[in-house]
Formats: sequence, C-alpha cells, structure tokens
Amino acid sequence: MFGKQAAPAADQSSSTDGSRTITREQLINLLNEDLAREYQAIIAYVVYSQVIKGAAYMNIADQLEQHAKQELQHALMISRQIDYLGGSPTTTPKPVKTSDKAEDMLRFDLENENETVRNYRERVRQAEALGEYALAETIREILLNEQDHQIDLATALGVDVPDVTSPQERV
Ligand SMILES: [Fe+2]
Ligand SMILES: [Fe+2]
Repeated sequence: MFGKQAAPAADQSSSTDGSRTITREQLINLLNEDLAREYQAIIAYVVYSQVIKGAAYMNIADQLEQHAKQELQHALMISRQIDYLGGSPTTTPKPVKTSDKAEDMLRFDLENENETVRNYRERVRQAEALGEYALAETIREILLNEQDHQIDLATALGVDVPDVTSPQERV
C-alpha cells in the first residue's frame, strides 16, 4: 500500500487553512456517514426516551423524546442534500449500543453527539471549500441543534460539555 501512492487528483488541493479540499463524490460519502449517524441517533433516542427509568431522569426522558424528533428532521435535511448532490441516501444506521442503566444510555448519547459535532464542523469547512454554501448553511443549522443536545446530556450527567475541538481549530 505504501510506496504505491497515487498522485493527488487534480481536484484535490490544499486550501489556505491547510485542510484538503475533497471531491464532490467524497462529500456525498461523508454525508452518507452523517446520515447513518442521524439514523443511529433517532433509534437511540426513541428507545432510550421510553425505557429510561427513575425520578431523577424524568426531565431528561422528555428531552430525549424531543431529540428523537429533531434527529428525524436532520436525517431529512441531510438526505435532501445528498439527493441534490446526485447521491443516494443510505438506508443503514450506525450500530446502537444498549444498556439497562440510565447513566450508560446518556453517556452513549453524549459520545455520539460529540462525534456528530466533530463531523459536522469538518463538513462545514469541506462544503465551503467546494463552494457548496447552502449545504454549509444547512449543516450549521443542524450543528446548533446538536450542540444543544450535548448540553442537555452533559447537564443530565453532571459533567462539562466536552471540548471536541480538533487540533487545527485551536490555533
Ligand atoms: Fe442530528
Ligand atoms: Fe443530536
């Protein structure tokens, strides 16, 4: 694999912030990964919101139910963008972890939201590098929502909202 590296494609270049511009095809594939994460989130929130037990978790259970509805909206928004770009929206979710402990469920949700936020921040940069400004705008809108989800979960767990900033964003 090493030593047989193909020359970079003509449409891949380095942008001013050092991040590599991806192709439209790669963007479609990455959006399908995002869509699979949205499906995962829908399933997790549908199930967790109904099975989470205990007086201490009643408030967060209601919030999880709201998250489920918002994740469905995100899935629709991402699917629309994939279709617009000429791709086929995936039908397969990322795997959903299960546990009978409320705290585990909330932790799984928070970890997934962190991963989602990290990916969408990257996607905004990639979409803008390709001149797909409407897509970047759509993802920014979703990102706001995902950050709210992080706050809800971190608050319920009694932890700080994790810093998911990638190293290149800290400069
Ligand atoms: Fe989402
Ligand atoms: Fe979310």
